[in-house]
Amino acid sequence: MNTTRGNAVVVIGGQWGDEGKGKVVDLIGPSFDLVARYQGGHNAGHTVRFGDKHFALRLVPSGICRPGILNVIGNGLVVDPRALLAEIADLRKEGVAVGDNLKLSDRAHVILPTHALLDGAREKALAGANIGTTSRGIGPAYETKANRTGIRVVDLVDPDRFVALARPLLTHHLAVLTHFYGLTGPSVDDTIAEYLACARQLAPFVADTRALLQQRLAAGARLLCEGAQGVMLDVDHGTYPFVTSSSCGPGGACTGLGIPPSALRCVVAVMKAYTTRVGSGPFPTELHDETGERIRTRGNEFGTVTGRSRRVGWFDAVVARTTVALSGLDAVVLTKLDVLDEEDEIRIAVAYEVDGQTVTEIPARSDRYERAKPVYRSFPGWKSITAGIDSFDALPPRARGYLAALEEIIGARVALLSTGPRREETIVLPGTPLDEWLKLAAPAA
Ligand code: GDP
Ligand code: IMO
Ligand code: MG
Repeated sequence: MNTTRGNAVVVIGGQWGDEGKGKVVDLIGPSFDLVARYQGGHNAGHTVRFGDKHFALRLVPSGICRPGILNVIGNGLVVDPRALLAEIADLRKEGVAVGDNLKLSDRAHVILPTHALLDGAREKALAGANIGTTSRGIGPAYETKANRTGIRVVDLVDPDRFVALARPLLTHHLAVLTHFYGLTGPSVDDTIAEYLACARQLAPFVADTRALLQQRLAAGARLLCEGAQGVMLDVDHGTYPFVTSSSCGPGGACTGLGIPPSALRCVVAVMKAYTTRVGSGPFPTELHDETGERIRTRGNEFGTVTGRSRRVGWFDAVVARTTVALSGLDAVVLTKLDVLDEEDEIRIAVAYEVDGQTVTEIPARSDRYERAKPVYRSFPGWKSITAGIDSFDALPPRARGYLAALEEIIGARVALLSTGPRREETIVLPGTPLDEWLKLAAPAA
């Protein structure tokens, strides 16, 4: 008998990351008992703002600021223990309680300092053709996981096991760093000592989160799965090789948490009313003019993790439709509408011209995708303030028109509309599956 059907909602990034997932998860968090990250690592930076508080969460799920929620770091993540401890310390310093409300999967993989060194060295060696990674060791750690020499949290917290596994792996990494890149790294003994000290501090958080989630779902608990990055950075369906190394879509929630597909009730993608991308890779609607500069400034488009300036462009409906098709969306959350308040004209790419052909699918080859020229539909700007508006009726008619056209073009309903970074700067649009489900789910205690 399947007793777990339908108690999980997945929130994913619908573009190239930084769509506002942190805001959305924090906002709807009280309708859930559990919030779980399922992939990625501290390449993510999820912003949560309320009152005078401002958090940039990296590994800790964005339910942490709400009391009564159990936050889970799932098996699908790669975790740098130093980064996780620093994040917990920062949260506590800001008055956020972190204790029994956080669990770390015993099956999550450990990022070693040499993973980050290899990440940086490879990027440097690629020179002009680099991916523009966050240099956190994410790709190399997933590589180690896939080649089956990885160290998991369950190994980290057992000193003998950790030393036995870490010594050969670190020695191998250091040899590669020296031989191919002329680099030295921290000594094997120093790293082992540092990581064993981290392990002692992390031990209280470690749990068999797979069993925990399965048990809680079977008992009727409501689970919010928090994606990191976005579908266009997915290792299979993104703009390969300019992607991250994990599965960012809803499928990743099942593998990265150990829950069955039948547990998923609803999939929601967060998308900006325009598009941003950090790092290299194709971006057909990218703006290199003063419009792009204005949107970057108004949207404060600078990386949450690296501080890098984000590339900015118009909303790309080819990308959005790809996300809808890949993820079977029940609803979209559209963020940062307010950032377009000053624009005379607002554009949406509905197709591309590639090598003389009109296409509505993303080319598999990134060099072909680089040559894609957007085919735009144009809309008159509303030229009035939507920032902070919290009711649909208060929106200027042209903003409502843009929204209706966007829904029609991408073939999905907008369930929430965000008009600012804070919780209250949000419009809930009735009549979508998310809205219905949030109504069914009584707020958690
Ligand atoms: P995430 O990685 O998807 O969680 O997104 P980030 O936190 O990296 O980036 C989103 C940024 O936009 C953050 O600085 C948020 O505070 C901010 N933000 C979220 N929603 C809105 C909105 O509707 N309007 C504006 N102006 N800012 C927003
Ligand atoms: P959140 O969860 C935006 C990008 C990097 C780079 C590529 C690979 O905050 O939306 P990696 O370090 O993962 O190997 O880098 O992916 N990238 C992100 N871009 N938001 C993110 O996370 C990202 N995480 C990784 O810029 O292009
Ligand atoms: Mg981010």
